[in-house]
Amino acid sequence: MQNVITTDINYCQQLLKENKLVAIPTETVYGLAANAFNEKAVKQIFEMKGRPLFNPLILHIHDIAQLQQLAIAIPDKAMQLAKAFWPGALTLILAKNDFVPNSITGGKQTVGVRMPNHPVTIELLQGLDFPLAAPSANPFTRVSPTSAEHVAYYFGNRIPAILDGGPCKVGLESTIVGFDGEHPVVYRKGGISIEDIEAVVGKVTLVTENETTPQAPGMLLKHYSPNTQLVVSNTILDTIREHQHLKLGVLSFKNEFTHENVTVKTLSKQGDLEEAAKNLFAALYELDELNLDLIIAEKFPNTGLGASINDRLRRAVSN
Ligand code: TXA
Ligand code: MG
Repeated sequence: MQNVITTDINYCQQLLKENKLVAIPTETVYGLAANAFNEKAVKQIFEMKGRPLFNPLILHIHDIAQLQQLAIAIPDKAMQLAKAFWPGALTLILAKNDFVPNSITGGKQTVGVRMPNHPVTIELLQGLDFPLAAPSANPFTRVSPTSAEHVAYYFGNRIPAILDGGPCKVGLESTIVGFDGEHPVVYRKGGISIEDIEAVVGKVTLVTENETTPQAPGMLLKHYSPNTQLVVSNTILDTIREHQHLKLGVLSFKNEFTHENVTVKTLSKQGDLEEAAKNLFAALYELDELNLDLIIAEKFPNTGLGASINDRLRRAVSN
């Protein structure tokens, strides 16, 4: 199974030109990529993920100039954000240009676009004359992959290649920003904090709490789910005691406590939120492999990337 993992960029370009799927590394999470302008290739992405067709895909570009071809009526604040954060963990939702296929946008009149900050994928994109449509490379509702091996676990024998760019440096999906007229609206908290976005464009509206009729369908409450049941706790030791008859795993922010019969993953001994974000999904994935009865995750401080981490943990609870 491991031989689908490759570092050969030319080979992956060839596959993509033949309208085949390739998993690609980005700084946020790995993506399941295809030629955005080939309907058959795009359809395969939805099939592979088991993803509903109404849930739109984002387009990956390597040059800000491509934005003008994909989107129309781009708000000034969108350009400010693109200039401030691209390449990086920011997806902009913009009014789509006519030739962006409806299969990409799930029938919406808007399109999501992002320039990833990963040298391997930028080089890959530079050799292609089409953008790559790429959702996170996980089956629908599961935890996003942050390494090539993690993708291989999900899809190894079903995709022609996984382009290995090492472990993802950010480890959380991109922050998604759309616009109500000129006003920025955050649809998904992610790898760039709300504070950093507001420092560039001023106050934003958060709609990420809306789960019944999500603006971004990825905000369905059940998402990012391990198979193992998960709870979030402010008082880890109490929660362990409460469930001590069970086989437990703990996701701790910075404390390295040991407890009999409990597997503990500490996300950042230094208490650094960026380091914790980078390690979050891999730790969840590893705990999920242990056949535990329950994973107890510590509630994070609700600032910076801590807010994005709490968002993912909250959704992982809804099994
Ligand atoms: O970091 C990321 O964004 C990763 C890497 C691979 O780039 N991609 C990713 O894609 O997380 P995906 O499909 O798993 O999540 C993208 C989210 C989905 O929830 C989708 O519903 C939303 O973006 N989205 C895409 N286009 C949209 C649109 N036009 N309007 C509203 N939401 C949109
Ligand atoms: Mg996803």
